[in-house]
Amino acid sequence: MIFSDRDEAPIALDMHPDWAALLGPPARELELEIGSGHGGYALAFGPRHPDRVLVAVEQRRKFAADLEEKVRKRKLGNLVVLTGDARILAPRLFPEGSLAAVHVHFPDPWWKRRHVRRRLVDDGMSTLILRLLRPGGHLDFRTDVERYARDAVERLEEAGFANASGPGRFAERGPEEIPSTREKRYLASGQPVWRLRMTRPRESR
Ligand SMILES: C[S@@+](CC[C@H](N)C(=O)[O-])C[C@H]1O[C@@H](n2cnc3c(N)ncnc32)[C@H](O)[C@@H]1O
Repeated sequence: MIFSDRDEAPIALDMHPDWAALLGPPARELELEIGSGHGGYALAFGPRHPDRVLVAVEQRRKFAADLEEKVRKRKLGNLVVLTGDARILAPRLFPEGSLAAVHVHFPDPWWKRRHVRRRLVDDGMSTLILRLLRPGGHLDFRTDVERYARDAVERLEEAGFANASGPGRFAERGPEEIPSTREKRYLASGQPVWRLRMTRPRESR
């Protein structure tokens, strides 16, 4: 299934899709990957977590179409690939508190000072992700850009996330963690990666 926020969409975007009906039983936990790129994370996630559904949203149509093709060939029934801007699609796709996890891996850094406001993890997106997660759900954020990481940790804590590693701190790579396409390069070269594991507090509403 692939659709765009620009096309006549097969899923009506004026209401949240009935994910349980679309994906069928058994009821599985929903996770969102924003900016799946070449899909290394999603393609490994599918077979590793048959009990969970990952919706991968990628704004570049070619990347999304290539990933969709691989998903179809590998018959990965628990992956959904969508193309469009996640900032527009996410609030239309998911009701508040419906996601068990959101994954943001190596978002575009937008180096130039005048472009920094284009970064994906801004105040609006931090609040949106927090709202879409269920209490206890988590955000898995990774970047190779230290400045982005330091800005994100501050911003996400300010938005109301609890930092599983302690305020202002970064997480270690977990032994079971699936690397994204880009991350595989950094693991091979030893280039540092900053990781955040942020949780929506259970008592938040
Ligand atoms: C640097 S790449 C990283 C790709 C992948 N996550 C990885 O780690 O290999 C960032 C990706 O995010 C996508 N992207 C950027 N902004 C987006 C948005 N607002 N919605 C969906 N995808 C987005 C880009 O098109 C690009 O494929």
